[in-house]
Amino acid sequence: MEEAFMQRTVTCGELRAADEGKTVVLNGWVHRNRNHGALHFLNLRDRYGITQVVVDDDADEALQKKASELKLEYCIAVRGIVRRRPDEMINSDMSTGEIEVKAEKIEILSRCDTLPFMIDEENNSREDLRLKYRYLDLRCFGMQKRIRMRHEIVRAIREYFYGTDFLEIETPTLIRSTPEGARDFLVPSRIYPGKFFALPQSPQLYKQLLMVSGFDKYFQIARCYRDEDPRGDRQLEFTQLDIEMSYVRRDDVLALMEDLFGSVFRKVLNIELPAHFRRIAYHDAMNTYGCDKPDLRFGVEIRDAAPFAAKSSFKAFTDTLAEGGYVKYVVAPKTEGHDYTRKYLSELESAAKIYGAHGLAWMKCENGSVSGGVSKFFQGMENEVLEATGAKDGDVILMIAEKDWKKCCTSMGAVRSRLGADLGLIKPGFEFCWIIDFPLFEYNEEEGHWEAAHHMFSMPQVEYLDTLESDPGSVKGDLYDLVLNGYELASGSIRIHDVELQKRIFRICNIPDEVSKERFGFLLDAFRFSPPPHGGIAPGIDRLCMIIANEQSIKEVIAFPKNTAALSPMDDSPSYVEDKQLEELHLSIVQDKKPE
Ligand code: AMO
Repeated sequence: MEEAFMQRTVTCGELRAADEGKTVVLNGWVHRNRNHGALHFLNLRDRYGITQVVVDDDADEALQKKASELKLEYCIAVRGIVRRRPDEMINSDMSTGEIEVKAEKIEILSRCDTLPFMIDEENNSREDLRLKYRYLDLRCFGMQKRIRMRHEIVRAIREYFYGTDFLEIETPTLIRSTPEGARDFLVPSRIYPGKFFALPQSPQLYKQLLMVSGFDKYFQIARCYRDEDPRGDRQLEFTQLDIEMSYVRRDDVLALMEDLFGSVFRKVLNIELPAHFRRIAYHDAMNTYGCDKPDLRFGVEIRDAAPFAAKSSFKAFTDTLAEGGYVKYVVAPKTEGHDYTRKYLSELESAAKIYGAHGLAWMKCENGSVSGGVSKFFQGMENEVLEATGAKDGDVILMIAEKDWKKCCTSMGAVRSRLGADLGLIKPGFEFCWIIDFPLFEYNEEEGHWEAAHHMFSMPQVEYLDTLESDPGSVKGDLYDLVLNGYELASGSIRIHDVELQKRIFRICNIPDEVSKERFGFLLDAFRFSPPPHGGIAPGIDRLCMIIANEQSIKEVIAFPKNTAALSPMDDSPSYVEDKQLEELHLSIVQDKKPE
């Protein structure tokens, strides 16, 4: 039998003045340890809080000795008596700050090696060190708080659905490979040499099959796997709240999401969201914010410069417009403590160039006129420019001319984003919006064919059904994204439930009938058996938690994430496997062979 230890009777976050005089046992880690001669102060920590433990200078020798053995992060048990702190020692920053526990007995439950970093409020160590010792990083209050908050968010989501007719149904994680956009993670089959399962990029096809089966309201908190490069808001494996419903139209799905998020934000943050979120058509979002996931917490809207740029003597502008191109501008606002130096303007230009812009033209507003940069090309029309743009002294007008509409929008959007962040224009809070009326197809220049902008199972808007093949570029889909604070939080659509229409979409996406039959045969088969009209959506849980926690990376809300190099420094995965395992799986490594 294991040796008995003194088991806690209270947690480290629990004791108050009213507990004075009680004998308690605490278990936890030594958070701080101060000795004043024979007087020892210990801060004992667990996930509920910190309690101060005191070994008085009149304590017996054995207790004194034990106290002096203690080091940071030792896991200990303390039995003692709760006593009020003297008034001048009360710590109002601590929930247990009115009391301390006078130790009678201390037991060391386990010792701690030299720590790679201090267990603090936040851990500011290098990311790889944090991830290598993630179990210690998770002890820090910041991580503890975020993981707890994630639990509360997921709980609020489940509670919402449990109050409805939705059924929570699990779908498999070993499935047929049907890449949805990213690369699949493959799992070799031992029993069937040369065959593979894939890990699902999302439960998309299975949730559609559940609709065919009659489970007309489905949800699942589902793990998804995508073999793509990780970045701030992306991981190889992540979690979606996956939802599908039968007999719905777009607005039903949108209303459900508004109600769900209203409930989650009320429960978790005590914040009342608007009953309905703003809806912005894709085309308008691109024109006004330069992206399809606009951050609406600040303005600096993009506008059309053509009316005045066409009259300027700047050839780059007039030629672009003459060729049917676009000139767009934003007014960068005068901001206390911020100068629009040449260096900063060239940084903004670099941001625009990442999205393909040829350059970023500027002019400053000074003394009721415009000066510097391209202002010389607007001579005689300074007032017209100021009136059209509404720019005031201290503002800077930033302009981009491009033949290509998307390039013009996205590069101006990149400048807008930089301004929002650099000038501190972003208001705290949460700004949701829907982006609707997305194009159904995008042209893949590299591969020279059309492909689905979202996925291939989304319904075209009915008015385009006759022109799908003749003009794919202008087809709008019954697609919607939910955007929160500049992040795509969720994506969804009304689905196709007609075999022939589904096949037409596959063909437009360059997937011939034989291939679609082989890859998606089970879905097409199912659609032969009276599928109901259906639609759904999938919010990313990691992104939701990240935004609520006001973090920049989803790693901050995932217990054991991969790093940006797509590996886990803690368990050193991915790793080589034994030859015997490869043999069983009928695999041999032909390249990058493991070092002998
Ligand atoms: P989509 O691929 O747009 O749609 O994904 C939906 C949401 O999932 C989250 N997400 C991610 N989060 C972290 N890391 C990633 N690599 C990652 N990829 C996606 C985002 C995103 O908005 N089956 C469809 C949904 C549907 O049509 O119902 C789908 O998966 O928050």
